[in-house]
Amino acid sequence: MRIRKATLNDLAGIMDVVRNSGYPLQHQYSQDTIKFFIDRHIVFVAEEMNIVGYMVVKENFRDGSELESIEVDNRFHGKGVADQLIERAEQTVKKLKKNKLYIKCWTGNLRASSFYEKKGYKKLELIKAYYSDGKDANLWCKEL
Ligand SMILES: CC(C)(COP(=O)(O)OP(=O)(O)OC[C@H]1O[C@@H](n2cnc3c(N)ncnc32)[C@H](O)[C@@H]1OP(=O)(O)O)[C@@H](O)C(=O)NCCC(=O)NCCS
Repeated sequence: MRIRKATLNDLAGIMDVVRNSGYPLQHQYSQDTIKFFIDRHIVFVAEEMNIVGYMVVKENFRDGSELESIEVDNRFHGKGVADQLIERAEQTVKKLKKNKLYIKCWTGNLRASSFYEKKGYKKLELIKAYYSDGKDANLWCKEL
């Protein structure tokens, strides 16, 4: 599997992942939002024959950077794709001379939460009603 920077040519492949990741909340990113992320932030894709995962790193958030999104096509869950992506995110943030990576995640997203915990992230704050439907988010953070 290859992890590489995304370009606008990857929009369709990333949208397939958005539709097939099994993200547990109603909200899904639109193609325009993904395009905005590619223009303004740092987007990586994980690629086999096709794109099987992507993530978005926002360079500036508080005193570090933020992993704005990480999603893997559900047919590839449990194979270490997210693990490789987040390792790359951490390397990228260190190269930007930031030493913290933050992630906001719905409190009920147990799978993603156990993944962040395993990768050494700590729950820093509860952000009440962070999502448009009123659900709460945990703010996770790792010192790199
Ligand atoms: C969260 C997500 C990105 C993990 O992707 P993944 O490629 O399946 O993760 P990995 O294979 O790298 O697994 C890493 C760890 O995740 C956890 N994990 C994987 N499968 C799991 C499962 N079925 N149940 C609970 N935890 C699981 C484990 O801690 C696992 O480590 P292990 O393999 O040593 O047990 C993926 O489930 C996903 O795309 N979910 C929908 C989108 C989403 O919720 N994104 C996060 C938003 S905050």
